[in-house]
Amino acid sequence: PLTDVPIGMWMSAAVLDLMPGTRRASQALVAAGLAGAVPTVLTGIADWSALHREQQRVGLVHAAGTAAASMLYSASLVARYQGRDAAGRAFGFAGLSALFAGVYLGGHLAFRQAAGASHADQLAHLVPLGWHDLCAAEELPDGWPVTRRLGYISLFVLRDGDEVHVLADRCSHLAGPLHQGRIVTDDNADTCVVCPWHGSTFRVADGSVVHGPATARQPSFETRVTEEGTLQVRPV
Ligand code: FES
Repeated sequence: PLTDVPIGMWMSAAVLDLMPGTRRASQALVAAGLAGAVPTVLTGIADWSALHREQQRVGLVHAAGTAAASMLYSASLVARYQGRDAAGRAFGFAGLSALFAGVYLGGHLAFRQAAGASHADQLAHLVPLGWHDLCAAEELPDGWPVTRRLGYISLFVLRDGDEVHVLADRCSHLAGPLHQGRIVTDDNADTCVVCPWHGSTFRVADGSVVHGPATARQPSFETRVTEEGTLQVRPV
C-alpha cells in the first residue's frame, strides 16, 4: 500500500542517520518520504470519510500522529538543507516516534475495527444495547447453521442441543458467509465453524479464532430463550 512509501523511506533514513557519511542519502530519503506522504494523506482522507463514528475517532488520532510525523520530517528536511545535521537527525527521530504511534493506530483501525483487512466489525455501534428478538427458537434445526437478520446485520445461528450460538455471519477475513461453513470440533472438543471461503475457523461459543487466515475475533452475541420460546440476542 501507499503507506509503505513514507514509512519505508523514513525508517531507512533513520538507519542511515546512525551511520557516518550518509548525510546526502538520508536527506534524499526524508524528501522522498515527504513526497510519498502527500498521496497517502489524500487516500487516507477518502478512506476516513467512509468510516463510521467510532472508526473516525480513532482515525483522527491516527491522522494526528501521522501529521505530526510529516511536520517533524519537514522540519528535519529544512534543518538538513541548512546544514544543521544534528537538528535534522533529532527532528527525524522525533518524527519516527510520532509515525510509529500513528501506524499503531492505523493497524488497530484496519485489523481490529474492520476498516481494512478485518471485515468483522464491532457491532455495538450497529445494534442498540439490550436484548433483541431474533426468531422462534423451535424453528432452528439442531446442529445445522442458519442465518437470520437483525436489522441490517446477518447473523450466523447454530442450535446445539439446548444451547444456541450466534455470531456475525460475515467472516472477519473477507466477509465469507459463515452460515454456509462446516461445523467441526477443535482439539478441546469445542464446537467451531469453518469459513467456506478460505477456511478460517472460529469457536461458535465466543467467536475466537482457532485457525486463520482471519486475525480478528468473530463478533459474538449472548443468547437466551424467553418463556414464549423467542430467541433473543445481545452483542457481547
Ligand atoms: S472469508 Fe472467511 S476465511 Fe476468508
